[in-house]
Amino acid sequence: MTTDPAEHGGTERKPFVVLGVAGGIAAYKAAEVLRNLTESGHRVRVVPTEAALHFVGQATWSALSGEPAATDVWTGVQDVPHVRLGREADLVLVVPATADVLARAAVGRADDLLTSTLLTARCPVVFAPAMHTEMWEHPATVANVATLRGRGNVVIEPAIGRLTGVDTGKGRLPDPDEIALVARSILGRGRTDADLTGRRVVVSAGGTREPLDPVRFLGNRSSGRQGYAVARAAVARGAEVVLVSANVALPDPAGVELVRVGTAAEMHRAVFEAAETADAVVMAAAVADFRPAAQQQYKIKKRDGEPEPIALERNPDILAELCDPDRRAGRSPQVLVGFAAETGSPGRSVLDLGREKLSAKGADLLVVNEVGESAGFEVTHNAAVVLAADGSATEVPATTKDLLAHRIWDLAVPMLDPR
Ligand code: CTP
Repeated sequence: MTTDPAEHGGTERKPFVVLGVAGGIAAYKAAEVLRNLTESGHRVRVVPTEAALHFVGQATWSALSGEPAATDVWTGVQDVPHVRLGREADLVLVVPATADVLARAAVGRADDLLTSTLLTARCPVVFAPAMHTEMWEHPATVANVATLRGRGNVVIEPAIGRLTGVDTGKGRLPDPDEIALVARSILGRGRTDADLTGRRVVVSAGGTREPLDPVRFLGNRSSGRQGYAVARAAVARGAEVVLVSANVALPDPAGVELVRVGTAAEMHRAVFEAAETADAVVMAAAVADFRPAAQQQYKIKKRDGEPEPIALERNPDILAELCDPDRRAGRSPQVLVGFAAETGSPGRSVLDLGREKLSAKGADLLVVNEVGESAGFEVTHNAAVVLAADGSATEVPATTKDLLAHRIWDLAVPMLDPR
């Protein structure tokens, strides 16, 4: 069941999000998160800290949310706001989460409305930290983040990039719309446990490009949306995520370590490096099976007469190599998930081809979807059947790529090596 109102035309009770805002320069970006959530049909109540009001004033929060924006428990005390907000919320999202708010949440302080709400909330809680690299890496913050994650809260890894001044490093707030998408992914999933907490997963996405000459390549139509949704769903369930992305023109998802690659050979290297310590690898990328045997140094010119044939050579099959029993034995146990985009062929259905592919590759799960002119690529919805190595098949009717991503994790999580 999805609770993302964007899926229902807004006729149901609006999901209620408490948006905590702590005192950091990134507080202004919380206004964009607020706007994204209200425009997608969520009711949002902003709870800033006193320090946050140094950056963005109360009037902005009230006007944008259409709700009061108190910082303390003494405003509207007859409603017992610190208890009511926590109880009513479907999600508490803190943007930006400063080192101070993480510390206060970790020790269970209740010295303002935000921390009191965090103590009374029984819904999912998500922190999107932003601070200077030194503060993020300080052992105190590291311990507080571990404590919060250990309690089932989702703490989104900050991005690497420009910080407040001229400095750059880890600690930047991820893109506000991407933070909102993580929140919506959690609300849409309809379950609250962060069941990938403490797990490290690798997801590949996009489509590889195999260069012919400096300006041309052999490529495919994969947009990367499904792989990005798988990565986002994993972040929403608490995982540490490495996203190996080939030629994707989408914003960077919040909370992932993004590794950009171009060709199948580069993807092969990046996936194997990241897979070394991963609990799960999901190969959602469309990897070219062949590459031009030679890449021309100069642009190929048209000449009179017949064009030159292009000689091709095989690329490595990354998924098949990951699944190879000898190679698998050298790594700690992991769940390996493949995708199969099939059109069917005479006498063989999409599912027949999927079953053959699952056993040929040796994957644990294979997500099979039918592709054609209007299905699969470059669309926001997807239908699929997830085949498992034990012979079972789970049908996922047409749904958003985000919800399909969660259904994949629903099947993969019970297969993870128990700890
Ligand atoms: N895959 C891979 N390396 C390749 C080709 C595919 O890791 N060189 C992975 C894809 O990421 C996907 C799965 O294998 O998870 C199936 O990809 P698909 O292109 O459907 O299958 P192929 O093995 O290429 O088989 P065919 O093209 O013959 O259908």
